[in-house]
Order: sequence, then C-alpha cells, then structure tokens
Amino acid sequence: MAGDERRDEDEEVELASFDFVHEAELARGFLEDAGIPAGVVADPAGQIQFGRGFSSRPRLLVRREDLEEARSLLRELGSLEGGDARAEDSSSEVLKASPFRPDLLEGRVALVTGGGTGIGRGISLWLAAHGADLILASRNRDHLEPAAEEIRALGRTALVRPVDVRDPERVHEVVREAADELGGLHIVVNNAAGNFLARAEELSVGGWRAVVEIVLDGTFHVCRAAFEPLRDSGGGAVVNITTTYVETGAAFMSHSGAAKAGVLNLTRSLAAEWGPHGIRVNAVAPGLVEGTEGARRLVESVGRLSEFEASVPLGRLARPADVAGAVLFLASPAGAHISGAHLVVDGGESVGGKFSLPEAD
Ligand code: COA
Repeated sequence: MAGDERRDEDEEVELASFDFVHEAELARGFLEDAGIPAGVVADPAGQIQFGRGFSSRPRLLVRREDLEEARSLLRELGSLEGGDARAEDSSSEVLKASPFRPDLLEGRVALVTGGGTGIGRGISLWLAAHGADLILASRNRDHLEPAAEEIRALGRTALVRPVDVRDPERVHEVVREAADELGGLHIVVNNAAGNFLARAEELSVGGWRAVVEIVLDGTFHVCRAAFEPLRDSGGGAVVNITTTYVETGAAFMSHSGAAKAGVLNLTRSLAAEWGPHGIRVNAVAPGLVEGTEGARRLVESVGRLSEFEASVPLGRLARPADVAGAVLFLASPAGAHISGAHLVVDGGESVGGKFSLPEAD
C-alpha cells in the first residue's frame, strides 16, 4: 500500500488553468524558483485565442504532494502581481495577447481619462500597442507617469495631463492643447469614475454630487471639449465606460447607477447628433474587473469576491485586457459602422449570473 501511496503522491494534478500560455509559464517559473517542479500543458498552437472554449486553456500541473504548497505560492504570486500588473496587461505582452493587427491605430491620437490605473491603464496600453499616441488625463499625475513610461517604452508618445474632469474650463484647455500638440484627436475614452458603497438614505448631498459630477458631468465636459478636434481630424470615435447595472440599478450604488445610466443616454444622444460629423459614440459596460479599485471598493470590501466570481458564467472576473479589447474594436475601423452601441464585457454575469440550473447528471 505504501508503494501505491507513493505513486499517488507523484501523480501530476492540475493546479490552475489560464487564458494565455505566458500566464501559465510565468506561474510555472515562480513555482520552480521556489523549488516546486511544475509543467504547463497547452494546445499545439501555444496560444489561446479570444472566445475559445475552456477545454483548451493552458493548464499548470504539479505533483500531488506539492499541491497545497503550490496553491499558497500561487496565491502569493497573485497578490504580488496585483490586477494592474498582470502579465497580459504589461506593455511587452499586449501584442502577444491581442488578436488585432499591431498597426490598427497607426497615426491615431487617443485621449483616455483615468488612463493611469486599472481599466484605464489597460485601455491606454492596448491603444498604444496598436499604434496610437496617447493623452493620459486624470487628477493624480503620480498615477499617470508610470503608465506614460510604459507607453513611451512602446515607442509611442504619451502626454500626461493632470485634470479633474469636473472642471469644464480645465478640461477644455487640456483637450484642445494636447490635440494641437499631437496634431489632432481621433479617439476619446471616458473612463474616469468615482464610486463607493452607500445606503441611499445615508448618502450625503456631497457624496451624490461628487460621483454624479465625475461620472456624468465629467463625461459631458470631455465630449464637448473633444467635439471640434474630433470633427476637424476627419471624424473619430468616443467610447464611454459605463457599467453592467445601468439597465437594472444596483443596491448601494444609486449615485453611480444613475450617473452611468445618464452616460449611456448621453452616448446614444451624441451618436445621433454627431454621426453626421463622422463621430461615432459607443459605450462599453465592464462587469467587475479584477485587481481594480472598483473591485476592491464594491465587492472585495464586503468579502463577496469569490461568490461574485463563481456566479460569472464564463468562470472568472473581467480583466483590463478584456475591456481594452472591446474598446479597441469599437474605436478602430472594425467598428466603422457602429455607433450608439452598448457592449457588455462581463463574462455573461449580467444575463446569467443570478441563478444557475442544477448540474447535469
Ligand atoms: N461613503 C460615503 N460617503 C463618501 C464616501 C464613502 N465611502 N467617500 C466619500 N464620500 C462623500 C464625502 O463624505 C463627501 O461628502 P460631503 O461633502 O457631504 O462630506 C463627498 O463624498 C465627497 O468626498 P471627497 O472625498 O471630498 O470627494 P473627492 O472629490 O475627493 O472624491 C470620490 C470623489 C468620493 C468619488 C472618491 O471616492 C474618489 O476620488 N474616487 C476615485 C476612485 C474611485 O472611486 N474608483 C472606483 C471607480 S468604480
């Protein structure tokens, strides 16, 4: 029996599966550095494409006897990396993970608000990795500089412009000057946002106002300031980041839900109004995006992250790269005839996450 147990211990078991081979390889290297032998099993193409089934996801295998230790090391790797620093989002890895042509946005200039962290950073890197020059705008210069450096490392221009989107004059000044400096403006991504959990009956007027002014007023200010440079650059694309609960509402997020619903309506109104000027206006609604301030504030803070993740039909939270891919699609010639659309990127959570059928026998 002892021999059988030994064989059991030696048996290789699955520790985790990944979307991309390089993620699995990164984890394998980390484990091997810690003295745990591990192997990656991937499909022959060596790269999983967007939209492919889970059956061919790269898998990381370890010996059964190492399973527990490997699990805790992997958790450590996850917290060391943090969502923002995930391998598939780093500038050098974007193109490997991307299904788009590297020159898709060659010669384009893009403005991303809140472009230094989380989803905004992911979007900025993806736009830059596909040829765009970037204007990064948000309140905190310290948040923008590291992302700008990553973009410059890709050989693209990145202007850093501290701005509070609630200040229409400053927004106007920044958008016009930066567009002049870079020779035009073709893509605008309204990503800057503010949110926190609060009971509506306890939410102060100041709290309501802060969120509505950042999300709804801020999006309007940026769109208004960008209109002329977009039109004068021969047309362009605006992508507004909304959220999955714009259609349903969400408890403890009345301020954010109302503001984002306003952004969706603004998106559609501007699509109708600015189409004749060659300006397309669309929205992307991410579900919960891992590693972001939003995920921390809204779900992780109340200890519900794994429960939320388990309810996503595609089995995981969204990642900045998932949202960035949708933005790139809408902003690029691939979306040339799409305007007024609301593209949900949530792994099916908003349509299938509320309940699940009993498991098949
Ligand atoms: N719960 C309840 N009220 C809150 C709050 C919270 N967690 N955080 C802020 N507020 C209230 C404040 O009390 C204040 O109200 P008052 O004027 O009635 O006192 C009001 O919101 C403004 O707060 P302040 O910190 O001065 O605002 P700000 O303009 O500096 O920041 C926020 C705006 C509140 C949205 C802030 O959380 C922020 O900067 N967020 C950016 C990042 C973010 O939210 N990311 C998640 C995106 S999903």
